[in-house]
Amino acid sequence: MSSKNALIEVRNLRRSFDYGAVQALRGISFTVEQGEFVSIMGPSGSGKTTLLNILGALDSEFEGAVTIDSVEMRHLAEPERFRSRTIGFVFQSFHLLPALTALENVQMPMFERKWRASERRTRAAALLGSVGLEHRMDHRPSKLSGGERQRVAIARSLANEPKLLLADEPTGNLDSSDALKILEVLGAIHQQRNMTMIVVTHDCDVAAATNRTLRVRDGQLVEKQISNGA
Ligand SMILES: Nc1ncnc2c1ncn2[C@@H]1O[C@H](COP(=O)(O)OP(=O)(O)OP(=O)(O)O)[C@@H](O)[C@H]1O
Ligand SMILES: [Mg+2]
Repeated sequence: MSSKNALIEVRNLRRSFDYGAVQALRGISFTVEQGEFVSIMGPSGSGKTTLLNILGALDSEFEGAVTIDSVEMRHLAEPERFRSRTIGFVFQSFHLLPALTALENVQMPMFERKWRASERRTRAAALLGSVGLEHRMDHRPSKLSGGERQRVAIARSLANEPKLLLADEPTGNLDSSDALKILEVLGAIHQQRNMTMIVVTHDCDVAAATNRTLRVRDGQLVEKQISNGA
């Protein structure tokens, strides 16, 4: 069954809460190839964030098999280490540290590495440049627009050169012009880095920009899946 270029393999994934009273994921199976840009759509409460948390090694209390980069997620010895090396996260509400500048925020995940301070700075500056924020490096989040904050968060998600980028409604808090800019930035990252990316979204424009859309309903994948041909 396993595909040669699969970065993610999910087989019969189930996750319940409250001793089974809430069945958030009810038998989900799919594969994501290395380099694919996939969107996940579905109504509120359908299990999208639950799924993303499992893919991001934030939750191991599931049934079924989830393999990422040949690592079985349920028996991960050091989830923090796996996360910081393999996964980049982008959240709806940015999660930047308010006391730190953009440049410092982007460096935060790098402390896991043995990089020198000068190298961290150079790498963070290059990442901010790649999201079009070279002129905002010394600004704190309160001095940035929502779209700029999310671009800092995207730069931070790339700090340790992850193989997989996971974004949970990255444009959910933004107006349509900022959302469009974020979409361009994500598309450029996908193209330039050939990165595997999964974006949960309610926005049809975001979904249309991805290679493929997985539709979730009541904790299951909707049978007829759409290839966006992008
Ligand atoms: N920690 C938890 N404890 C109990 N129930 C939970 C927990 N996390 C999620 N759920 C429930 O699991 C279901 C799926 O939630 P999830 O957050 O994955 O939905 P979602 O698709 O991300 O929704 P939204 O679009 O509103 O973000 C919901 O019924 C939710 O209430
Ligand atoms: Mg959610």
